[in-house]
Amino acid sequence: MTVFSDPSIDSVKKLLTLSELAVSDIHDGGSVRFFGCGTNAELVGVIGLEPYGRVGLLRSLAVDASRRGENLGKRLVAHLEHVAGETGLRSIYLLTDTAQHFFLRLGYVRLARDEAPEVIRTTEEFRCLCPDSAVFMVKHIGSEE
Ligand SMILES: CC(C)(COP(=O)(O)OP(=O)(O)OC[C@H]1O[C@@H](n2cnc3c(N)ncnc32)[C@H](O)[C@@H]1OP(=O)(O)O)[C@@H](O)C(=O)NCCC(=O)NCCS
Repeated sequence: MTVFSDPSIDSVKKLLTLSELAVSDIHDGGSVRFFGCGTNAELVGVIGLEPYGRVGLLRSLAVDASRRGENLGKRLVAHLEHVAGETGLRSIYLLTDTAQHFFLRLGYVRLARDEAPEVIRTTEEFRCLCPDSAVFMVKHIGSEE
């Protein structure tokens, strides 16, 4: 199943809601770039990238419950990392309450929340949407200059 850019916001919100992820800051024309698998009518997977200069926030990753375990999540993360690398991002940060082990397998490492760059710390996801129990992680994808 191929990954496509800009799934409709309605389909994104529907899948995220079914997966019990936050949607309150997602709207048309927002700063998050979404990628999806399936079609707008039947979105099977979604992932979002919020770029901030040389770093990005990975967020809103969900695969439809009936399609988990088919490597779609892994493929969506790989696609996001590819796009991030092509657009000059050096590091990808994320917060997760539910998928720490999934991300560890993909090369992300845990970081203390107070090690977050300022631009990441001021995102709504960081400030409001993820509980304090969420694990903060990073993957460096480009060489440091
Ligand atoms: C987390 C999620 C996106 C994974 O999607 P998926 O398509 O089922 O994952 P994949 O099939 O690509 O799995 C890739 C690998 O990670 C493993 N894996 C999947 N989910 C895992 C989890 N929760 N914990 C540990 N390992 C996991 C798989 O076994 C697989 O391992 P392999 O490469 O050795 O075969 C999916 O479970 C989901 O939508 N969860 C609910 C929403 C959520 O928690 N999102 C994360 C918010 S940050």
